[in-house]
Amino acid sequence: MLFIQACSNPNATSKHINNSDVLVPAPTALKVGEGFVNPIGYYEQKPRFSWQISAQSTTQQQTAYQVQVASSSNFSDSTLLWDSQKTLSDQNAWVRYQGKALQSRQKVYWRVRIWDQDQQASAWSEINRIEMGIINNDDWQAQWIGHPAPPERTKDSIIFSSVKGNAFPVPDVEYYRPFYLRTGFQLPKKVKKARLYITAKGVFKPYINGMAISEDAMTPGWTPYHKRIETLAYDVTEFIHTGKNALGVAVAEGWHSGRIFHPTVQQPTLPIRLLAQLEIELEDGTTQVIASDKSWIASNRGPIREASNYDGEYYDANYELPNWSSPNFTAESAAKWQPVLVEPLDPAVALQPKRHKAVSTTTTIAAQNIVSNKNGVVIFDMGQNLVGVPEIKVPAIKGQRIKLRFAEALEGERFAVENLRSAKNTDYYVANATGPITYQPTFTFHGYRYVELSGHDTSATPSTDWITSKVLHSNFNVYDNFNSDHVLLNKLSNNVEWGLRGNFLDIPTDCPQRDERLGWTGDAQVFVQASMYKADVYSFWSAWLQSMREDQGIDGLVPNYVPFRSFLKSLTGAAWGDAATIVPWELYQFTGDIGVLEENYNMMKRWVGYHTYNSYQHISRMGSHGDWLQPFTLNGTNGGDTNRDLIATAYYAHSTHILAKSAKLLGYETDAQYYQKLFEQIREKFRHYFFDQNMDLHALITKPPLFQNGSERKSKAKTFSPVTTQTTYLLPLAFDLFDKEEQLAAVDKLVALIEKSDRHLRTGFLGTPLLAPVLQRFGHSDLMYDLLFQETYPSWFYSIKNGATTMWERWNSYSLQDGFNGEKMNSLNHYAYGAVASWFYRGILGIQPTKPGFKHFIFNPQFNRKLGQVSGSQSTPLGDIAAQWQIQQKNVFIELTVPKNSQANLMLPKVNIEQLLFNGQAIDTKQATLQPGSYEIKGTFKVDLK
Ligand code: BGC
Repeated sequence: MLFIQACSNPNATSKHINNSDVLVPAPTALKVGEGFVNPIGYYEQKPRFSWQISAQSTTQQQTAYQVQVASSSNFSDSTLLWDSQKTLSDQNAWVRYQGKALQSRQKVYWRVRIWDQDQQASAWSEINRIEMGIINNDDWQAQWIGHPAPPERTKDSIIFSSVKGNAFPVPDVEYYRPFYLRTGFQLPKKVKKARLYITAKGVFKPYINGMAISEDAMTPGWTPYHKRIETLAYDVTEFIHTGKNALGVAVAEGWHSGRIFHPTVQQPTLPIRLLAQLEIELEDGTTQVIASDKSWIASNRGPIREASNYDGEYYDANYELPNWSSPNFTAESAAKWQPVLVEPLDPAVALQPKRHKAVSTTTTIAAQNIVSNKNGVVIFDMGQNLVGVPEIKVPAIKGQRIKLRFAEALEGERFAVENLRSAKNTDYYVANATGPITYQPTFTFHGYRYVELSGHDTSATPSTDWITSKVLHSNFNVYDNFNSDHVLLNKLSNNVEWGLRGNFLDIPTDCPQRDERLGWTGDAQVFVQASMYKADVYSFWSAWLQSMREDQGIDGLVPNYVPFRSFLKSLTGAAWGDAATIVPWELYQFTGDIGVLEENYNMMKRWVGYHTYNSYQHISRMGSHGDWLQPFTLNGTNGGDTNRDLIATAYYAHSTHILAKSAKLLGYETDAQYYQKLFEQIREKFRHYFFDQNMDLHALITKPPLFQNGSERKSKAKTFSPVTTQTTYLLPLAFDLFDKEEQLAAVDKLVALIEKSDRHLRTGFLGTPLLAPVLQRFGHSDLMYDLLFQETYPSWFYSIKNGATTMWERWNSYSLQDGFNGEKMNSLNHYAYGAVASWFYRGILGIQPTKPGFKHFIFNPQFNRKLGQVSGSQSTPLGDIAAQWQIQQKNVFIELTVPKNSQANLMLPKVNIEQLLFNGQAIDTKQATLQPGSYEIKGTFKVDLK
């Protein structure tokens, strides 16, 4: 752990240092919490502060820091809220504020300076800000408001009427018509500052004086609504003026009130509500609050007639409400609206500022070409399987209904939508005039590559600029940080990124297109590591972990998917619920932020308790979905052939081990010892229960095992499968469950199994992510290259050869020749197999973290003759690590950048280093630790590359 030593040196405070006297440049890249810059509507009462040493600085390592937080930007004594004083520490991230907890709306300023290796103080950083959101229910004046009409049954629903050709029949479902809410207000003076605090039970879109105030979509997002609803805060100063103003909000059912999963599943009845509070500070210092209350009016006779996440949106321009969100709204129009229904806040439901970025349009993609145009039906190809909504610019005919359908793939020219199951993914637009229209749905999202248009003015010749797609995901940065000289490898990297974009829509989902889109925990735990290499998703994951904590059962159960809806029967399973330990642990490894372990420790511990409860003599009886979607199963199930007790026990051990290590880091000594011992006991039992002396599966495991209380478990034989799979060995090797000699024997068995399958993988969701780390660790990176570069089924490149632009759910989801493989459950956008992308950075490029947050790493690229050139970078709390290597015959050229405050060691066993240049100077430091800086390394291979 990093050392922190407070040192109170009163002379070291800001007042005595003039910035122009100091030579060490100020720290840069100031961030709050999990990466926020000057946030408005912030959530954390005791924020964490992070910064980086300026790349221009000669400072290599920080030796001390000082952070100040004040209520004014002059940082005078009387405004200082917290001063860390000069603190001896190399910690440049996640420094926790120790002052009085920040309150709703409070605005504070903060700055930081550091000391370098020669004890020289830097200049102060620029001043950054934090403005809190409304953090307590008591700080709201607003009340929940809604349309007074009872929810309508959808007899007249276009979207929900029966669907032909779908995998399931769609019965009538109860659904809620979207509605519109508005209020007007008058301001006597100029506006100095205005904030809109807002949320909904459902999804909302706010407008002020006729203008949409933000690009955010599907807000507030999805949390366990019965416990917590996130609120958004917007700076709306520029939208408001002296005189008459209006605030209008459109709302629809979203996740809160909409159906989840298939409509035959019993759905709760949860009406849509809005909560809004506009706080205005006028120039004369007076304030005015416009809060949702009984003075508002509502109408459900607006243009968005229907809107649903799964099914799409129905927009009828004949119902447009002129000026509904502007001050010019007439009394005559208002007379057609109704007074709202009002409900008080529920003390059991915490209203809390959204703790990660809202969903927004991040990219716009134009249609690439028109696949067909027959009988008034046009099919457009976006060239990319994506998640979002279309923006159409299409000639319409008055009274005619334009219809848009969405598909991930075609079969020949056939628009194939069976894999969407009951999700109708259809948008309609009814034109109120003849001529060109522009339309983009507001309250839905689709997963698609192809768009089918009909109902337009067919006398016009379609053109690709009729359709563009707005790509939607939580608004984080996706890095473009891996490249090589191999086209398919680059494409795979790109497909992993698209899988990430498509399934990070407020929560991490299994898939974005069919009637599911749930936060499946198993998928998340296998992909979390790769996602951290590819995008700035720390806050995204931390937010989801809060939902997981809230959804954990009193017995410690962590559900199969989060947020959880109890009407779906399936509860949990090993490797799925283990996301509770694995996700926090992976985030900690990446960021070095002990805060994520602190925050989740209790959940992790209770989950391990749940494992223990479901085990008998250290063998887990929890059950699992298995090595999900393993190819070539003998038992023909989605769960694969790997013994389920073996899977569950391996994860029991792994979670216990993570918990023991976390306890140690957090200083919980008794827990650390207890869980370390428990881990060793499970490990010991695991080896002897599942494996015989030859490291083959033990015959014993086919016997029905017992529960804790000695009762027999009723289960199907597949649970006790005696079949040996690649995953049988991958799990214990990856989780360190074997002793040294056993390890070597197990690796031999694993390699033999891979050879036997003609150097192809035979793994599902659980085994696949472990192939690369295990094979590399035991000296078989070349075999991993063979697996990775296979082009025949099952392999990653097989999908690319068959047109994939995202990651598929199944190794054989689709083929160019036969189309979809006929399975009902079949998505072309599932991120789990994208977990392999971790290896692009850790293995191929060679950046292996050895200390959390990349304070230290080993540079150990895995050279192979299949690749001649690779480059990439990796964002860390210290700055970017950049690396590239190039092979020319027997020579290799390497460039490596070690960020400030970090260190690295080289490990190039296959290479004779000829020259090591640091800042242009040759130095012989083969074994030495590399300090921050840029290096050029040249070498010759000792061996012929495979
Ligand atoms: C989801 C998977 C998930 C699985 C668990 C599926 O329906 O799409 O990704 O992990 O169920 O059984």
